[in-house]
Amino acid sequence: MLDTVQLHYEELGSGQPVVMLHGFPFNHTIWQAQAGVLSQSYRVILPDLRGHGQSPAPDGVYAMDVMARDVLALLHVLGIERAAWVGHSMGGYVLMAALRVAPERIAAAVLVATHPHPDSEERQAARRTAAARVFTEGKMGVTQEMIASLFAPGGDSSPQAAALLDLMRKTPREGLAGALRGMAERPSSVAVLRAAKLPALVIGGQHDQIVSPEVARSMAEIMPGGRFVSVEGAGHMLMIEQPDATATLIRRFLAGLYRES
Ligand code: MLT
Repeated sequence: MLDTVQLHYEELGSGQPVVMLHGFPFNHTIWQAQAGVLSQSYRVILPDLRGHGQSPAPDGVYAMDVMARDVLALLHVLGIERAAWVGHSMGGYVLMAALRVAPERIAAAVLVATHPHPDSEERQAARRTAAARVFTEGKMGVTQEMIASLFAPGGDSSPQAAALLDLMRKTPREGLAGALRGMAERPSSVAVLRAAKLPALVIGGQHDQIVSPEVARSMAEIMPGGRFVSVEGAGHMLMIEQPDATATLIRRFLAGLYRES
């Protein structure tokens, strides 16, 4: 197993801790709008996962457990032994890996546009081909092919999509390849979710082309403490497409949680 790396992160606000994990191949700034709202009431930790943003990008296969251990190590250094976790897409896979390796460290889960299923063999092969292409052809093609499926119909020609593509292209090649290879080998998290004894909110985008609302809804149904909500007028990048609605959903969920504690 790879050693943990020291993650770059941003910290905002004070109060009960909330950690927010971005998806592939983004960085912590995608949560800007929601972090602004949540940091009025909570201590918000925004890591760049390994290989992304300003965090180290070692060579290797970034297994989801390894990425989860990086986050757990960061939280430990910050004196946070238990937090509410929010994970978008690959950040959700990392959250589910953390639920597998250290469930006691997670007070509640917000799973955004993500799902617990492993890749099909075709998907694994496509990821490994893309990982190799990043080194032979560069980052342009792989990132360009992704952008079309990230937004609700028509959204891929928006200024937000252009800014996101720019952000994706800043992700180092080692980071793109490491995460693609790590996602290809991730196991099913269905049993982990069925056994999870924590409050959970599953948020899906109405037009998500990567994780359909049906798949997101079924994830909430297998979690004993799970609830599903759909964000209208959004695709996979709902925190960018519908920033206020996404922030309100997470804020209300956390408010309910911490009122009860
Ligand atoms: C993400 O947004 O993190 C990715 O689309 C996840 C994936 O490729 O499975």
